[in-house]
Amino acid sequence: MIEGIKIYSAPLQGYTDHIWRNAHAKHFGGVDVYCAPFARVEHGEIKSRDIRDIAQENNKVECMRPQILACAPDDALMLANKIKESGYTIIDINLGCPHPPIALKHKGAGMLKYPIEVAQMLEKLATIEGIEYTVKMRLGWDDCNQWKEVLDCFDIIKPKHVAVHPRIGKQQYKGELLMDGFTELYHSCHCPIIYNGEILSAEHIMQIKSQFPCIEGVMVGRGLVATPFMLSTEQRGNLMKFHAELLEQYSIHLSGGDMQILNKMKSLWTMFLPQANHKLRKAISKSRNLDQYVHASTEAIKSVIDT
Ligand SMILES: Cc1cc2nc3c(=O)[nH]c(=O)nc-3n(C[C@H](O)[C@H](O)[C@H](O)COP(=O)(O)O)c2cc1C
Repeated sequence: MIEGIKIYSAPLQGYTDHIWRNAHAKHFGGVDVYCAPFARVEHGEIKSRDIRDIAQENNKVECMRPQILACAPDDALMLANKIKESGYTIIDINLGCPHPPIALKHKGAGMLKYPIEVAQMLEKLATIEGIEYTVKMRLGWDDCNQWKEVLDCFDIIKPKHVAVHPRIGKQQYKGELLMDGFTELYHSCHCPIIYNGEILSAEHIMQIKSQFPCIEGVMVGRGLVATPFMLSTEQRGNLMKFHAELLEQYSIHLSGGDMQILNKMKSLWTMFLPQANHKLRKAISKSRNLDQYVHASTEAIKSVIDT
């Protein structure tokens, strides 16, 4: 396990739901805080699937952080109040989602271009008693300096930390990491900073820590979904049990029958174990029923355990 730095598991909508978080904590661990994907408004209410995902009874990890998608002040207030009713006292605010249909409505990373709207939302959120906030953000939406004005708004809620993905929204999840911008933000921000972006190994975490010694932690996203034993490579033997648990839990929780379970597992494999044998990964994506899937996935996992 990695000492001297806090490890956050990043929220990944569609991947790191409570089933994945519980299974990861049970079979691998090493994560201090598991962040849940954002909760959003649907037809004026918090989306029921989102509230189920953060419900205390569904979450067995020691520390879980729910998140709201930055949006209109009244919607943000409603989301945060619902999460408070679920028993949480810290809520993360997503100022990083780059998905165009969301960002173009001034939500997520799209709000970084509009610091006045950020301030209006934070002022509403600050009215809720007994809730503290953290923020997850990028350097900007279409300009890597937009964080500067947004940072001034943070005095309103005094975030417990700010997690930064050093890209702008328009880059989506690809392209150059803007490390100069991250370094400037790291030196300018009064709140503790968390680094998030393209971390693929424990060695990389230690390198970030030595480059930015005052950092509070690192947040690992796609790297951890791809290689869930990334933080403790000696636990790679737990892959089989981890995968069996995911399959079992999705079979219990998904009500749409075998095809829905199969599609959920195939979607996991778009990120999971890229190092597995290529032909076996292909067989997984071509599997037409759960028997074929189980056969191909078992062999693919063995190909990783045996390397
Ligand atoms: C499929 C997908 C879904 C994501 N969902 C969320 C989300 O719900 N909330 C959020 O703050 N970030 C979300 N992110 C961004 C990640 O949390 C993270 O910031 C990003 O992937 C960069 O970190 P990484 O390079 O370690 O993956 C998502 C990213 C991906 C690829």
